[in-house]
Amino acid sequence: MAVRPLILALFLCLLLSIFTTSHGYKTHRRGRPCKELSFYFHDILYKGHNKDNATSAIVGAPDWGNRTEFARPFDFGDLVVFDDPITLDNNLHSTPVGRAQGMYVYDQLNAFSAWLSFSFVFNSTQHKGSLNFAGPDPILNQTRIVSITSGTGDFFMARGIAILTTDAYEGNYYFRLRVDIKLHECWE
Ligand SMILES: *[C@@H]1O[C@H](CO)[C@@H](O)[C@H](O)[C@H]1NC(C)=O
Ligand SMILES: *[C@@H]1O[C@H](CO)[C@@H](O)[C@H](O)[C@H]1NC(C)=O
Ligand SMILES: *[C@@H]1O[C@H](CO)[C@@H](O)[C@H](O)[C@H]1NC(C)=O
Ligand SMILES: *[C@@H]1O[C@H](CO)[C@@H](O)[C@H](O)[C@H]1NC(C)=O
Repeated sequence: MAVRPLILALFLCLLLSIFTTSHGYKTHRRGRPCKELSFYFHDILYKGHNKDNATSAIVGAPDWGNRTEFARPFDFGDLVVFDDPITLDNNLHSTPVGRAQGMYVYDQLNAFSAWLSFSFVFNSTQHKGSLNFAGPDPILNQTRIVSITSGTGDFFMARGIAILTTDAYEGNYYFRLRVDIKLHECWE
């Protein structure tokens, strides 16, 4: 019967296509970023007396904490909402190019570590649009990496990583992060 070799040929084709797709997927190279940008953002935490210049606030705390002091131990259970200025250099008083808006929640029982979920919202001559960030943030590491999951406007469909570096940390109420953005997917 001539049917058998035909079926065999089809089967081999199918196998080959599965093999090449999965092979291509597995060996997908990271390559170089298609776009790299660096920013700073500044967070001034509300501590009960600085409402006028605070840019973030503890909005939720476990039963053993409150909204002006972090819970002990490890700030566990505290949820902080922020609307922080983004600048091109490390000066808090430089003209902002956008806002870092979102939240972090301390979610590790035995170490200082938060889960970040926020956006960079740009509305400046340099950039318009947004980038969305998500991921764990072991804050005691000098640098750590979070995912950039999507974007809009100038950053339409963007994906990549952000390397966060603690650039300043003062008295548990002001910190400044340097954010090195490396996009690995860019659309024109
Ligand atoms: C916030 O304002 C207070 C009181 O005016 C000031 O002492 C403090 O330095 C300010 N903090 C920052 C980070 O600018
Ligand atoms: C919050 O907790 C801290 C530490 O336990 C305490 O010193 C402070 O008075 C509390 N603040 C309020 C508003 O309850
Ligand atoms: C962006 O800035 C322009 C000019 O200042 C303003 O008209 C516009 O409403 C702003 N858009 C957003 C989304 O903030
Ligand atoms: C934290 O830093 C340590 C040592 O520098 C490194 O091995 C580890 O991968 C870092 N963790 C994260 C989540 O970035």
